[in-house]
Amino acid sequence: MLAFPSGRMLWATYLVGAEFFLKGSEPDLPAVSTGSHIDAIPYSGKYDGVIGVLGAIEPINVLMRSGFKPIRSLEVIMFTSEEPTRYGISCLGSRLLAGSVSLAGALKQTVDNHNISFLDAAKSAGYAKNEDFSNVFLDDQNYSAFVELHIEQGPILENEGVSIGIVTAIAAPASIKVDFAGSGGHAGAVLMPQRNDAGLAAAELALAVEKHVLESGSMDTVGTVGILELHPGAINSIPSKSHLEIDTRDIDEKRRNNVIEKIHESAVAISKRRGVELLEFKIVNQDPPALSDESVIKAMESATQVLNLSRKKMISRAYHDSLFMARKAAMAMIFIPCYKGYSHKPEEYASPEDIANGVKVLVLTLANLSLIN
Ligand code: GLV
Ligand code: MN
Ligand code: MN
Repeated sequence: MLAFPSGRMLWATYLVGAEFFLKGSEPDLPAVSTGSHIDAIPYSGKYDGVIGVLGAIEPINVLMRSGFKPIRSLEVIMFTSEEPTRYGISCLGSRLLAGSVSLAGALKQTVDNHNISFLDAAKSAGYAKNEDFSNVFLDDQNYSAFVELHIEQGPILENEGVSIGIVTAIAAPASIKVDFAGSGGHAGAVLMPQRNDAGLAAAELALAVEKHVLESGSMDTVGTVGILELHPGAINSIPSKSHLEIDTRDIDEKRRNNVIEKIHESAVAISKRRGVELLEFKIVNQDPPALSDESVIKAMESATQVLNLSRKKMISRAYHDSLFMARKAAMAMIFIPCYKGYSHKPEEYASPEDIANGVKVLVLTLANLSLIN
């Protein structure tokens, strides 16, 4: 176990020989941090998050080998559970670091599909000793800046032949869980007028999500029903329960919130019309967007100039741990191109050259930010 200059502890026995921080000449100043996540969704790719962790360790090692002497310390953070796959909430680690009191409370009861509590999982990974999750909250003096390197997860950089994306804002994500209940019954014996099919209520709501998103009138509004489960899941049984999980996002928070309201109205109307019960309509998270900080953007721009790399300012439609780190430090992100913009599927790919470019920009950006007194 290692201790960061900021006093935070780091478990790093799995990467022997790699350095995760570089102590500055003024270690009491807020440090400059970088990092990302290595967890993944089912059937995903190998680059989402991972290059922001491995690609963050390398700059620290390069700067150390070159004899660079930062004023502020540099630290690498690997966030837990950026993806909502296991505990149903996205960016769990960075949300907690950013000081989410409600999450710290809710995590005491949170279990995964195998009934393993978040606390037990965190303990067995060596990350938690007790259940007071609020002891990981950052204060404003921990970090002056946070920088995340990530694949674009969209096609713009590749299509335009641009090497580096400089992220100026991250879109506002929200997720919702919905449960309907009907009477179920025999697929042959119950006649159509007598049914209250929870599966059809879910299907209708999924189409309503698409309709409300399209009606927003902006290409920036998106909505997805990524989980749709029917109970009991037998071909000859009318679904008596259904469960949907809806992801909706927009760079405009008000417009995204309007879509959430419309989805709620539809869920209520569908349940009345079909005689099914709306057991739950739970907004799991409804986050505001984040703006990048000009000082970090400038450091990135100057890094691309020194390296003679083309760059483009862009927004991130995907969410990242940076969305939450922006609440505690000046934040910006470095994007690199990825093959056809593919992400969250196995075909995801970024070339070694593009990854190297991103890491070089990160090295110079960190070096630059670490010299600001
Ligand atoms: C991150 O994984 C996202 O879904 O944007
Ligand atoms: Mn992802
Ligand atoms: Mn990611």
